[in-house]
Amino acid sequence: MRKLRVLVLMHEDLVPPQDTSARHGPTIVPWRTEHDILTALAELGHETRVVGVHGDLQVLRAAIDEFKPHVTFNVLEEFHGVSLYGQAVISFVELLRCAYSGCNPRGLMIAHDKLLTKKILTWHRIRTPRGGVIPVGRKARKPARLDYPLLVKSVVEDASLGIAQASVVTSDEKLRDRVEFMHSTYGLDVLVEEYIDGRELYVGVIGNGRPETLPIWEMTFNDWPTDAPRIATERVKWSAAYQRRHDIRTGPAAALAPEVERDILRACRGVYSALGLSGYARIDLRLGPDGRVWVIEANANPDLARDEDFAESARAGGLEYPALIQKILNLALAWRPLWKAAEPS
Ligand SMILES: Nc1ncnc2c1ncn2[C@@H]1O[C@H](COP(=O)(O)OP(=O)(O)OP(=O)(O)O)[C@@H](O)[C@H]1O
Ligand SMILES: [Mg+2]
Repeated sequence: MRKLRVLVLMHEDLVPPQDTSARHGPTIVPWRTEHDILTALAELGHETRVVGVHGDLQVLRAAIDEFKPHVTFNVLEEFHGVSLYGQAVISFVELLRCAYSGCNPRGLMIAHDKLLTKKILTWHRIRTPRGGVIPVGRKARKPARLDYPLLVKSVVEDASLGIAQASVVTSDEKLRDRVEFMHSTYGLDVLVEEYIDGRELYVGVIGNGRPETLPIWEMTFNDWPTDAPRIATERVKWSAAYQRRHDIRTGPAAALAPEVERDILRACRGVYSALGLSGYARIDLRLGPDGRVWVIEANANPDLARDEDFAESARAGGLEYPALIQKILNLALAWRPLWKAAEPS
């Protein structure tokens, strides 16, 4: 295997500390993904350098000029504290004509906007819950064509930010309260979407032109009040203690009828192609009790920690973690950005 110089691009606050023993403790450390990727790259024998950024592109440019990486491994999710700007940093890397891992900037931008994603999926006849936007400063009113229960979330934020049990609303009053809360807490436009009762599924997709799907993954709520919505709230996602208390687990989705499995995988490949994604992504879905598949969103820069859904489902599909990281590097090197096509041959 060819040894590469890999520049690992991350947020400056998430550069792993000298002593990384806490990675294997009971709490979820914020720099776990960065740590896991660096460890895997070292295991693979690549030469790595870390560049931590927050709001200074010069740091990144200097690192690329000095280190001359074969490829930049992208773990960055924001710039200037704005998650939508993550894609702008990858644009910058592309403009410097350096290869990068993961999704291209256009795909990152589209997938980041849940309303734009919905419009594109609807055009492609891929089933996604009906929804509407309530901009900051506008009073919350239920769009006439939507029916309760509705789920209230940010149009552009991820990591389940602002998602709680109270996000599922069943009346005009609760809708107004939740929208006001989201507007005042995050200052961002809000997406109001029909709530899909059912199973919570995640599917990893990896590739450039003809992507492969990883085994279908499911979050199960094993010790949970029967009447509470089974959704991935902030606490469900980020509190290990809460996960233990309610016996919330993720693993291979059990007992899916072959035609349902086929529908899920077809939807995921459809989303990947409709949004123009590349590298790797994770598609979040709901499966209704009637067997209908609903696409909730596409994550074009999903968490790559060793014990997160993407890597775990890759492992279940026969791809151990270092092999997954190597595959992502290979895809990065194989991706043809526009400047390559524009070069005289
Ligand atoms: N329309 C919906 N119907 C049912 N559940 C939903 C719906 N929209 C969101 N959810 C629930 O809320 C969770 C978070 O929503 P979503 O994936 O859109 O937000 P996110 O903050 O981008 O999450 P991520 O952590 O995946 O980046 C979903 O995993 C799902 O459990
Ligand atoms: Mg999600």
